[in-house]
Amino acid sequence: MSDTAATAAIPNNLEAFWMPFTANRQFKKAPRMFVGAKDMHYTTADGRQVLDGTAGLWCCNAGHGRPRIVEAVQKQVAEMDYAPAFQMGHPRAFELAARLAALLPSPLDHVFFTGSGSESVDTALKIAIAYQRAIGQGSRTRLIGRERGYHGVGFGGISVGGIVNNRKHFGTMLGGVDHIRHTHDPARNAFTRGQPDNGAEFAEDLIKVIQLHDASTIAAVIVEPVAGSTGVLIPPKGYLKRLREICDQHGILLIFDEVITGFGRLGTGFATEYFDVVPDLITTAKGITSGVIPMGAVFCSSKIYDAFMTGPEHMIELFHGYTYSAHPVACAAALGTLDTYEEEGLLTRASELASYWEDAVHSLKDCPKVIDVRNLGLIGAIELEPIAGEPTKRAFSAFLKAYEDGLLIRTTGDIIALSPPLIISKAQIDELFGKLRTVLQSNI
Ligand SMILES: Cc1ncc(COP(=O)(O)O)c(C=O)c1O
Repeated sequence: MSDTAATAAIPNNLEAFWMPFTANRQFKKAPRMFVGAKDMHYTTADGRQVLDGTAGLWCCNAGHGRPRIVEAVQKQVAEMDYAPAFQMGHPRAFELAARLAALLPSPLDHVFFTGSGSESVDTALKIAIAYQRAIGQGSRTRLIGRERGYHGVGFGGISVGGIVNNRKHFGTMLGGVDHIRHTHDPARNAFTRGQPDNGAEFAEDLIKVIQLHDASTIAAVIVEPVAGSTGVLIPPKGYLKRLREICDQHGILLIFDEVITGFGRLGTGFATEYFDVVPDLITTAKGITSGVIPMGAVFCSSKIYDAFMTGPEHMIELFHGYTYSAHPVACAAALGTLDTYEEEGLLTRASELASYWEDAVHSLKDCPKVIDVRNLGLIGAIELEPIAGEPTKRAFSAFLKAYEDGLLIRTTGDIIALSPPLIISKAQIDELFGKLRTVLQSNI
């Protein structure tokens, strides 16, 4: 690296940037900087290679620096940088929507583009409420989320979300929101491989909520099929199907937040296919462009789309959208990403690797302080016993140690979450868990 590049990579003044979801003061004392990325690795400012155990932030599903995506973005930005998103269109947006719709079960054949997962969540919640109104069910305004749920950081998302720290600082949030219990039940399910046998009955919480508020006040329920950011909670067998049944019986829309499960994470295009449960709306982002350009999307059924397509044709049907909805460069990145997924069979690759991955994740169960291990598709979690009086510290020490040893992991609470790019090789899986074993066996 030239001197100038090195200077640019490590600016002297780190103060101005208020970093998201980061311990700013600690980071700025001992910064960790990435300056390059290719395939399965990041390059640090001091020239080390770091194996990406988390696909960036669950987003770089095709790995890094993939040629099809890079070329598509370069070409698009030179050809047309931006087109207005309202009352104008551009061909790549329609091509992308049609290709995405083809990946989903047939009722989900319309796509609304957003700029992120948080925007997708707010969009889906708004569509759900507006849909109920459009079909004459205007009293259905209530939204139901789940404890420990993560649905991004917009006011809608934190209101239906259930992570205490993401909520408690921000006032009263949306009114008319209730929550069902999360499904994490280590007393019965610790060290389960794949989906736990116990816990389908957690879905009955929805009946209780309906009994309390009455179905006529409830617009929608939103859940992550596999809860990711809270530390990987795998749904018990039968749980999601039961939620679907209850929603159907009571005229409630079911929203799957597939921001992390979408685009091959479980070895199918989406979790809807994996669990064989079709929701009314799906929120996505991240893997849609393999993390290259910010983008999100909401998929909705024709039943919902058609309910809005009434009234005078010159009238806007849904008063919602973003300047960057279907941004041309994001669309190009997404098309390049879909090409890469298709050419390399990446949307199903996790199913080929799943049992190898499962064995590797569970091989850590004998490490010190490990109190649970969970996995599904190419997702893994290792839960550590918290240090008494200092929650999160043990896992964060593991994160720091892993980074020093050339491995990127993600931690939340005292849980280590793993979600590598879908291009990971078996040898790299061995390397990842070899490094992690060393970390867990050190004195953290
Ligand atoms: C399930 C889920 N929903 C929404 C989001 C928010 O996405 P973004 O950070 O792109 O706004 C995330 C991000 O991790 C997520 O995991």
